[in-house]
Amino acid sequence: VSRVIPVDTFDLVIFGGTGDLARRKILPGLFRRFAAGQMPEAAQVIGAARSDMDVTEYRSMIRDALKEFSDKAEQGDDVIDGFLEHIDYAQVDAQGDDGWDALREKLRDGVVRAFYFSVAPFLFGDIAERLKTRGLSDDQSRIVVEKPFGRDLETARSLNRTLATFFDEGQIYRIDHYLGKETVQNLMAVRFGNILFEPLWNSQFIDHVQITVAETVGVGGRGSYYDKSGAMRDMVQNHLMQLLCLIAMEPPARFEPDAVRDEKLKVIRALEPVAPNEVVRGQYEGAEGENYVDHAEDPRSTTESFVAMKVQVANWRWQGTPFYLRTGKKLRSRVSEIVVRFREPPHSIFGKDAGGRANELAIRLQPDEGMDLRVTIKEPGPGGMRLVDVPLDMTFAEALGPDAEEVPDAYERLIMDVIRGNQTLFMRGDEVEAAWAWTDPIIANWEEAKVRPAKYDSGTSGPEASLELLHRDGRRWRDIR
Ligand code: BG6
Repeated sequence: VSRVIPVDTFDLVIFGGTGDLARRKILPGLFRRFAAGQMPEAAQVIGAARSDMDVTEYRSMIRDALKEFSDKAEQGDDVIDGFLEHIDYAQVDAQGDDGWDALREKLRDGVVRAFYFSVAPFLFGDIAERLKTRGLSDDQSRIVVEKPFGRDLETARSLNRTLATFFDEGQIYRIDHYLGKETVQNLMAVRFGNILFEPLWNSQFIDHVQITVAETVGVGGRGSYYDKSGAMRDMVQNHLMQLLCLIAMEPPARFEPDAVRDEKLKVIRALEPVAPNEVVRGQYEGAEGENYVDHAEDPRSTTESFVAMKVQVANWRWQGTPFYLRTGKKLRSRVSEIVVRFREPPHSIFGKDAGGRANELAIRLQPDEGMDLRVTIKEPGPGGMRLVDVPLDMTFAEALGPDAEEVPDAYERLIMDVIRGNQTLFMRGDEVEAAWAWTDPIIANWEEAKVRPAKYDSGTSGPEASLELLHRDGRRWRDIR
C-alpha cells in the first residue's frame, strides 16, 4: 500500500556532500524516498564540497555509500542508477570565492530551493552569507542546519543572530533527528489522539516519568568531536530535552509548527535549575584499549559519556512529579524508552497484602517500537482475591500488520518536511536557546567544582550513583534489557 504524498520539484544542495552524514543518512534517506516513488522526476540533489571531482566520480561515491548504508540498495543497480540521475556535484569553497557562480548556474527558478548545512558549525555563517550575497537564495529558499547548534547559550545566540542576518526564522530548519523518528511523533498521537491518557496526565495521577536513551556503541572514531561535547551537550540538551517536552507539554490547539513549538518552549522555560546532587556524570571503562579515555583527545579527559538527572517541571500540571532522564554510551543494550509510572490507587479494597502494583505505561521508541501498559488483574485460582500485574504489550509493527507502510527513517521524513515547508518537527531558535540556558549552569558547575565523572563498566546500566539517584526517592529505574 503506498500512501506517498507528492512533493514539489526541488533543488537540494548538500554542503558537506562528501561527508559522513551525507553518505550515511542524508543520501540514503533521499534514496528511500526515490525508491518509494516520492522523488519528483525533475528533482535535483547537488552535493557541494571542497574536493576536486566530477559528477561521475561523485555518483560513484554515492553508489558506494548506498551499497554500504542503505537497506534499499538490494533493489538493484537499475534503481540506484535511476536515483543517481538526480545527483550532481559542485566544487565550492565555503570560505572563499570559488565555485559559487557555477553552483548558482545549476539552480533553477520556480522550484523549491533548499540548502543543507552538513558541515562543521564554524562554516554556517560563511555559507549563509554567500548564499545570500551571491544570489543563490531568495526569500522562499530554506536552509537546514545540523546539530550541534552552538555549544552553550552564547554561541547558540550568536549563531542565531548570524543566520537571522540572511534568513527569516521561517526559512531556518534546525534538525533534531529525534523529532523525525516515527515513534517520537507517536508520542503526540498517543497523548492527544486518545481520551484515555490526557485526563490522567498530571501530578495528581503520575508519580514520576523516566526517559532513557541507552546506547551500546562507544565514542569510537568520533572521539575528537565527542570529547569536547560530552553526553550533556550531545544528547541531553537536544534529544532528551525534546522527548521531555513532548511528554510534558500542554496540548497545542493544532498540530502546527508554532502551536507545537510554543508549548515545548514553555516546558523548557518552566524547568527548575538542577541541583548538583541531582545530576550524575559517568564515564565508561572497558577492557584494555576500550576505555572512554582511549578514544578521547586527552587521556585524562573528564568528559562524560553518561548523564542521569532528576528534573522538575515547575508548573501547575507537574508540581511534585519528577522526570528522571538518563543517557549513555556503552550500556547494556540499545533502548530508548519513556516510562510513565502512575500513582497507586488511593485506596485498596482488597487490603494492602493483596498484591498488584501501580500502573505503568512504557513507550518504546527504539528498537521494537511499541508500548506496554502494566495493569493489575486477579491472579487465577480459588485462593481468594490475589492480584498480579500483567503487561498489555503491543509492538506497533505487529499491531499495524504486514500491509502497513514501512517506517521511514528520521532523516528521510525530515528532508521531505523541508521540501514541503513544514517546520513542526524542527527546533525554533528560541527553543534551542532556552535549552542551553538550562543546561549551561549544570555544565558550568561541573567545570567549576571539577566534578569528575563516576566510572562505570561497559555493558552495565551506568554508574551506581545513577541507581542511587532514584533509590533515595524510593524509586528504581526500569531495567535496560
Ligand atoms: C546523535 C549523537 O545526535 O544521536 C550521537 O551525536 C548518538 O552521539 C545519536 O549516537 C543517537 O541517535 P540514534 O538515532 O541512533 O538513537
